[in-house]
Formats: sequence, C-alpha cells, structure tokens
Amino acid sequence: MARIIMGIESSCDETGVGLVRLHDDGTVELLADEVASSVEQHARFGGVVPEVASRAHLEAMVPTTERAFATAGLSMSDVDAIAVTAGPGLAGALLVGVSAAKAYATALDVPLYGVNHLAGHIAVDTLQHGPLPAPCLALLVSGGHTQLLRVDDIASSITELGSTVDDAAGEAYDKVARVLGLPYPGGPPIDKAARNGNPSAIAFPRGMTGPRDAAFDFSFSGLKTAVARWVEGAARRGEEIPVDDVAASFQEAVADVLTAKAIRAAKEQGIDTMVVSGGVAANSRLKELAAERCAVAGIELRVPRPRLCTDNGAMIAALGAHVVAAKRPTAPLEFSANPALPVNVVSLS
Ligand code: KG4
Ligand code: ZN
Repeated sequence: MARIIMGIESSCDETGVGLVRLHDDGTVELLADEVASSVEQHARFGGVVPEVASRAHLEAMVPTTERAFATAGLSMSDVDAIAVTAGPGLAGALLVGVSAAKAYATALDVPLYGVNHLAGHIAVDTLQHGPLPAPCLALLVSGGHTQLLRVDDIASSITELGSTVDDAAGEAYDKVARVLGLPYPGGPPIDKAARNGNPSAIAFPRGMTGPRDAAFDFSFSGLKTAVARWVEGAARRGEEIPVDDVAASFQEAVADVLTAKAIRAAKEQGIDTMVVSGGVAANSRLKELAAERCAVAGIELRVPRPRLCTDNGAMIAALGAHVVAAKRPTAPLEFSANPALPVNVVSLS
C-alpha cells in the first residue's frame, strides 16, 4: 500500500516541509512542498546569520507544516513516516527541525528517519525525472557545498570524489555580487547581468586545474580575490566598472571548472548519468555548458527545476521515501543533529 512520507528541512535559512507518496513500485510522487525563507532577514549582512535563522525556523515550523498538509489535502494522521535533515548545516537551525520531527513522530507514533541534507539534494531529482540509474554522478553546488559524488544507491551508498577546499560555488557568487554592488543572494543578479556581458572579456583564473592539483577538488577563493582585485584596479584608475562583463567572465570561470571536472569524473568512473543540483544548479550558464559537454561525452544530464534545486522539504521527504523503501533502520529517538554529518551517512541508524 502506498505510504505518505513527511520531510522536514531546517539546515540553513529555509524552513521546508514536504509531503510525498511512496508507491509500491518504488516511485515517489510529490504532494506538497512548502517553504518559508528568512533570506530577507540576512540580506543586509551579506550572508546567513545563524541565530536569526534559528529563530525564523522556530516561528515558521508550525505554519509551514500546516500549509503543507492543506496543499496536499491530507491530515497529520495520514502520515506513515517522517524524515528530517540531521545534517550537515547550522547547529541551531538543524535543532529546530529535529525537535519538531521528534515531536510529530512521537505524537503520531510513526517511524522517524534522520537523513543527510546533501543526499536530499540528489534524491529530489527522482520527483521530477523518476528513479535514478545506479551508479550516477552528482555535482552538488549550493551556498554551503560544492561536491562531486558517486551515487551507487541513493538510500545507502554515496561516495565523495571531491569537494571545495575553500569557498562553495554559491558563496563565491554571493561574495562577487557584493564586490559588484549587486544584492544578496548573489547568484540570480550575477546570472542576469552576465547575459549582457562578454564571458571572454576578462581571463579570470580556473582554480585547482593545474597538473598537480587534486583532479576532483575545487577552489573558488582565488577566483573571488582575482575579481575583487580587478574591480579595485579599475576603480583606482577611475574607470567605470563593466559589471556585465565582470559577471559574465566570473560566471564562465565557475561553470567551466565545475563542468570540466564533473565530466572528467564521470568518464573516469565509467558513469553515464549526471545529476546537477543545489541552488547554483539554477544558473543558466552552468546548465547550458553542462548540457553541451554532457552531449559531447554521451552522458545523460538531469537537472531538477530551480524550485527543487534550492533548499526545501520535498527533497527530504523524497530521500525519506527512498530510505523507507530500502527498509533502512530508523533513527533512535535520542539522536542529535550533526552539523558536520559526512555525506556517506545517508541516514542515521
Ligand atoms: O541550495 P541553496 O538554496 O542553499 C544552500 O544550501 O546553500 O543555494 C543557495 C545558493 C546561493 O549562494 C545563491 O547565490 C546561489 O545558490 N544561486 C545561484 C543562482 N540562484 C541561486 N547561483 C548562481 N546562479 C543562479 N541563478
Ligand atoms: Zn542545500
């Protein structure tokens, strides 16, 4: 019999509650995806303020849950299992979701699963494109993470091939936007400005692409500094900053490195399906270049729609459904959130 899985996400600045239906054939259907964001409260600081985010989660948790059930036309008693983000993320923020999930699971007397946020970003793709072939390669690019992952089983087996040694890709977007006087979060305005700019106007560095660098690790801090230096230099000379060209050239450097390394990893691992997810997967140039290079390499590219790429509760419900379907163990009720949960721990046991 089909089962209803509730997912709760609170690792950063989005309070998400999702509801999905796990069908007997293992397919997962999206029923509700409600998100409350505190992004506006962080905008003037240019980054997420953990205490502000925690308080916002506390205020948004119950109303967001109520909205999700109303959207799905379900009542709480319909829930068969609950999944919650156990990590990685901000400690105080995670704690709000985990506490809420424990309370709901206890009150409803249903099993509780503590799941990995990063795996959730990959699992969400199954809501749009159906079951994931195994193995597949995931390029996870968000404000907090930049990782290349090999996924042998979305419910139990994820291996990290590489990650950023400094800034995350989205973080670089946010910092460069600040240098260019564009609003936070920086991804969307840079993406927009870049459409009117020349991507080859300025040759910004491609980090960690030297022969002695780790093949699948990333570095964006040098690129961010190079952009800041370039803008400072132009300002010192009294020149007007060509924002569109800087944005386009920066974006080209990011998309080039991300896609080149992802394709190389897929080829080396003999994998022919790539999933690109996380907030930065909404980037138009990244999607375009990934599509171009995947086509040349004979790799099938899957990119969830932008709404599913950014943090949400549906991704946690989707992962929860796969974990339930795989008959993985539930989390002990006394489990704690783990801000540094490693990506190979798909769910707590
Ligand atoms: O996945 P997400 O919503 O939250 C985290 O888990 O971090 O990702 C947010 C990040 C921000 O850094 C934002 O600037 C970036 O995703 N982002 C974009 C675009 N839309 C959002 N970056 C580049 N291009 C975009 N269109
Ligand atoms: Zn995320």
